[in-house]
Amino acid sequence: DGGPSADAARRERVKSPEELRSHAWYGTGGLRSFSHRARTRQLGYLPEEHLGKPVVAVLNTWSDINPCHQHLRERAEAVKRGVWQAGGFPLEFPVATLSETFQKPTPMLYRNLLAMETEELLRSYPVDGAVLMGGCDKTTPALLMGAASAGLPAVFVPAGPMLRGHWRGETLGSGTDMWKYWDDKRAGLIGDRELAELECGLARSPGHCMTMGTASTMTAVAEALGVTVPGASSIPAVDSGHSRMAAAAGRLAVELVWQDLRLPELLTREAFEDGIATAVALGGSTNAIIHLIAMAGRSGVKLTPDDFDAIARRVPVLANLRPGGAYLMEDFHYAGGLPGLLARLAEAGHLHLDRPTAAHATLREQIAGALVHDDDVIRPLDEPLAAEGGIAVLRGNLAPDGAVIKHIAAEPRLLRHTGPAVVFENYRQLQDRIDDPALSITADSVLVLRGSGPLGGPGMPEYGMLPIPAYLLKEGVRDMVRLSDARMSGTSYGACVLHIAPESHAGGPLALVRTGDPVTLDVPARLLRLEVDEAELARRREELRPPPAPYGRGYGALYQRHITQADTGCDFDFLARPGEVPEPYAG
Ligand code: FES
Ligand code: MG
Repeated sequence: DGGPSADAARRERVKSPEELRSHAWYGTGGLRSFSHRARTRQLGYLPEEHLGKPVVAVLNTWSDINPCHQHLRERAEAVKRGVWQAGGFPLEFPVATLSETFQKPTPMLYRNLLAMETEELLRSYPVDGAVLMGGCDKTTPALLMGAASAGLPAVFVPAGPMLRGHWRGETLGSGTDMWKYWDDKRAGLIGDRELAELECGLARSPGHCMTMGTASTMTAVAEALGVTVPGASSIPAVDSGHSRMAAAAGRLAVELVWQDLRLPELLTREAFEDGIATAVALGGSTNAIIHLIAMAGRSGVKLTPDDFDAIARRVPVLANLRPGGAYLMEDFHYAGGLPGLLARLAEAGHLHLDRPTAAHATLREQIAGALVHDDDVIRPLDEPLAAEGGIAVLRGNLAPDGAVIKHIAAEPRLLRHTGPAVVFENYRQLQDRIDDPALSITADSVLVLRGSGPLGGPGMPEYGMLPIPAYLLKEGVRDMVRLSDARMSGTSYGACVLHIAPESHAGGPLALVRTGDPVTLDVPARLLRLEVDEAELARRREELRPPPAPYGRGYGALYQRHITQADTGCDFDFLARPGEVPEPYAG
C-alpha cells in the first residue's frame, strides 16, 4: 500500500459529536429535540444507541418491479451492519426505483425526479451522511446528482452485475442478445420455442445488466470518481463479496462523516476526467456522456461533449466486453475488475493519481497492487480492443450542438457514408412503417427518427437503435446508418448517430430533413451534414411550426419547462448548478 502516512492523516477525525448535523435535531435541549428523542424511542431505540452518533441515511432504490435491485432489500441489512460496527446510526429510506425495462416512456424522464428526492430527503431529515444504493441505469447518476447537491458525505453501493446468461450452451448478454435474437426472430431464423427458452436465459440472477451497458458504465464511473468502496463496481450482485462490500460501505460512510469529507470535494474536474477515461476504456455506454455532464454540473464542473471526444482520442478501449467485445461483467470481475483496468490506465498516464477518494488519500493508493488476471478480458496497453476510444462527437449543419456515435459498435464500412434519408416523424410511425416495402429502403439509406429528444420523446427514450427493415434483415443486412435525437441503450450497437442537439422538437435542423435528402456521416472527420443548400433550409425553417407541448400539468409540465438539451446533460436548469440553499431550522 503506497502511502500509509498520507492515509493515516486523512483518517483523522475532525468533528465532535456536537458538530454533527443531526445534533440540531437531537441535542439542542429545546422542545423540538425532546420531541425528536421521544419519536426515536418510539422507533425502538435507547438514547445510548444513537445520541452523539452519525446518522447515516441508507437510500435504497429496491422495489418489487426492479429485477436489477431485487437483492438490495436484503443488502441494505449488510450496509446497516457496517454503520453500526463503525459507531453510526443507520436509517433506511426507500426512494424512487427507476427500473430501466418497465418504466415508460423512459426512466430518463424521472432521473431528475430521483435526484430531487435524494437531495431533499437528505436535507430535510437529521442526516449526517448517506449510503446510496443503486445501479440500474439512471439510478446511479440520479443518486449521485442529488447527493452532490445536498453536499453531505456519501458512499455509493453499486447493485452489481447479474451473472452471465445462458442458452443452449451459449453465453448470453442481457440487452445485447435480446436485440440480436429478436432480429433472428424477425428474420425467421428462430421461433416461439426458442424465444421462450431465451426468456429464461437472458437475465438469470439479481443484478444490473452484465454487458457494458449504461449500468455497468455508470457504476464503474462511480468507482473511478472515488465514491465507492474500492473494487465495488465489478462484484456480481449475488457474490458473497457483494455483502462484504456493502458492510464496508456502511463503515466508510461513518468515517467520512467524522472526517467531514463531503461528496462535492471528491467530485472535481480531475475526477470527472478520470470518469470519462474509465468510460472510454470500458467501451462504455453513450449515455455516460449525458449523465457525467449532469453530475459534473451539480458540483460546479463544466463538462462538454468535446471533453469526451478529446479523451476518447487518446484513451484506448481495454475492456473486451459486449456489446463492443466478447465477454461479460462476471468475466471482467474474475479478470481483476475495475481496479485492474484502472491500474493499466494509470500505467499509461491516463489518470490523475494524486486526487483523493472516499477510501484513500489518493487514487494512487486506492489502486496500488491491483492486478489483471486475464489479458484477453482486460487488454494490455499494447494490445487494445481499439487504439482510440469508441465514442466520437460529431458536428455539422445537422447537429450544431453536437451528436454522438459509438463507432466501436458499428460496421466500419458505414463510418464514411452518404445516403438518402428516410424520415420518420416519431417512434410510433417508425414501428408502423419500417417494414413497408413502399418506402423502398435499401442498405444505403440513412434512417432518420425525430421527435425523440428530451422534449419530444419526452424524456429522450432509447429509440436510437432504429430497427432495420425485416426484408433487409432477411438479405443479411445487419447494420445501417441511423440518426436521431434519441438516446440508445448501452447494450445496443450499430452505426447509430444519437443525441442530435438541438432536438427536432426544439427547432433543431433535424426537423428540416426530408425523405430523399442526401446525408453524410464521416466519423474520422467528426462530421454530420445534411447535403441541402442553406437557402432551401432557410425556406423550410420558415415553414416550421413548433409542435404542441405534451403536458398540461404535473411533473411533466415542470419537466418540459426546465429540461436542458443533451449537450448540457438534460438536467433541470434550476438544479444544474451549485448554490446556497438554507439549512432547515430543526430547533
Ligand atoms: Fe436494469 Fe439493464 S435493466 S440495468
Ligand atoms: Mg439500458
